[in-house]
Amino acid sequence: MKSVNINEQIYNYIVDRFAPDETLLTDLIAETEKLEIPLIHISRDQAKFIYLTAKMMNASNALEIGTLTGFSGIHIARGLNDGGKLVTVELEKKHADIAAKYFEKAGLRDKVEIMNMPALDAMKKLVSENKKFDLIFIDADKTSYPGYYENAIKLSHKGTVIILDNMLKSGRVIEDAGDDADLKAIQFTNDLISKDERTESILMTIGDGFTLSVVK
Ligand SMILES: C[S@@+](CC[C@H](N)C(=O)[O-])C[C@H]1O[C@@H](n2cnc3c(N)ncnc32)[C@H](O)[C@@H]1O
Repeated sequence: MKSVNINEQIYNYIVDRFAPDETLLTDLIAETEKLEIPLIHISRDQAKFIYLTAKMMNASNALEIGTLTGFSGIHIARGLNDGGKLVTVELEKKHADIAAKYFEKAGLRDKVEIMNMPALDAMKKLVSENKKFDLIFIDADKTSYPGYYENAIKLSHKGTVIILDNMLKSGRVIEDAGDDADLKAIQFTNDLISKDERTESILMTIGDGFTLSVVK
């Protein structure tokens, strides 16, 4: 065994101590569920990890691909410097509207801009504007991950951290993907990132697996 298998009890041990629940976030999750929006936000330990990453880096500008209803975005924005900015991209207006409501409730309205459009278009627009980000978090449709990663590189400077979620695909990453397009895309992206000489990276066993890359 190379690392501990995290069951529900151990997960709770971690998050109860290091990422305790707060009413704003439990309300956000309850409203997401009530509106029948899929509950596919990152885990509480992942959220705390991204928050701390932003802090460690002294990050000012972050980009998120896949807002959902704002759970991860609230953590990223809170981790940014005062005066910092999170640009977060979401395709579904229903999701973006709830996210906007909770960014406001969290006191983050001035720190967050939501782009309600397809993420590849948003990234291309940001590239054309020569925007650069300190931290980029990718957590949307899996088949676009290779394209999101390539555009993330274009939106990076030396030292930018790029994090992608679901890189273990519930442990299925080692299986034959067959005709599972999402799993194929995750495997392709892991291979792409692990061999990419523009970055140094690791696949981390937190939540459903984060790859973390630092741009050289
Ligand atoms: C896994 S959820 C994001 C979860 C969020 N990062 C969190 O942890 O709170 C993925 C989101 O990506 C959005 N999405 C899917 N395809 C997209 C696309 N092409 N462009 C922008 N957003 C997309 C979905 O609507 C969904 O809200």
